[in-house]
Amino acid sequence: MDDIIQIEGVSKSYKDVLVLDNVNCAFERAKIHGIVGRNGSGKTVLLKTICGFIHPDKGRVVVDGKIIGQDIDFPKNIGAIIEAPGFLPTISAYKSLEYLASLRNVVGKEVIRQAIVTVGLNPDDKKHVGKYSLGMKQRLGLAQAIMENPDILILDEPMNGLDNSGVSEMRDLFLNFKAEGKTIILVSHNSEDIKMLCDTVCEMDRGILSSVNE
Ligand SMILES: Nc1ncnc2c1ncn2[C@@H]1O[C@H](COP(=O)(O)OP(=O)(O)OP(=O)(O)O)[C@@H](O)[C@H]1O
Ligand SMILES: [Mg+2]
Repeated sequence: MDDIIQIEGVSKSYKDVLVLDNVNCAFERAKIHGIVGRNGSGKTVLLKTICGFIHPDKGRVVVDGKIIGQDIDFPKNIGAIIEAPGFLPTISAYKSLEYLASLRNVVGKEVIRQAIVTVGLNPDDKKHVGKYSLGMKQRLGLAQAIMENPDILILDEPMNGLDNSGVSEMRDLFLNFKAEGKTIILVSHNSEDIKMLCDTVCEMDRGILSSVNE
């Protein structure tokens, strides 16, 4: 099997609370993998370890053959939307993504504009992002996650605040991503999204991850 992400014996505590408890799992390439579980169970912490934002106390995360925090600080070719995306409030959507793109200098104007169009926003809209609605901010977060054409998308409740048409557009977008051979990890509280999109489903319960047999 071609596993793009391997999580091997990962544990993480905050103070004396065990938030990830010996998590073991592998995510196959070109599939959509769902993670469900109640509030505070450790889903977001797990996603952050995959992105290299936090380091496990024990175990390791391997992305595309590279050990995170050892071979490489952050995985390459990963796009993420984790919790509410933060943007500078007093610039436009285009300027926001242009600024983020400029940090790595990998994508040009047309690619940024296309990412904004893909998520249903207008790249010529001069409105400051601080005045965007919840759903518009969420869409912009997705535009940021996809703009560098990553191989892996890490999506923490990406449908937050989206209207019905937004939800169905994003479902199509995610399925197209998968068809292009990309891998998606999707955390969601919406069983409809999980059922419709995911090839595999795991449940997090007090830091313990187990696979859900459908
Ligand atoms: N930086 C931190 N410092 C201390 N505790 C933390 C920190 N980050 C997360 N936690 C704790 O880890 C546990 C898991 O949090 P996490 O955000 O992963 O939950 P979740 O499964 O994503 O929940 P939700 O469905 O509400 O998003 C919680 O008890 C949380 O308080
Ligand atoms: Mg969370």
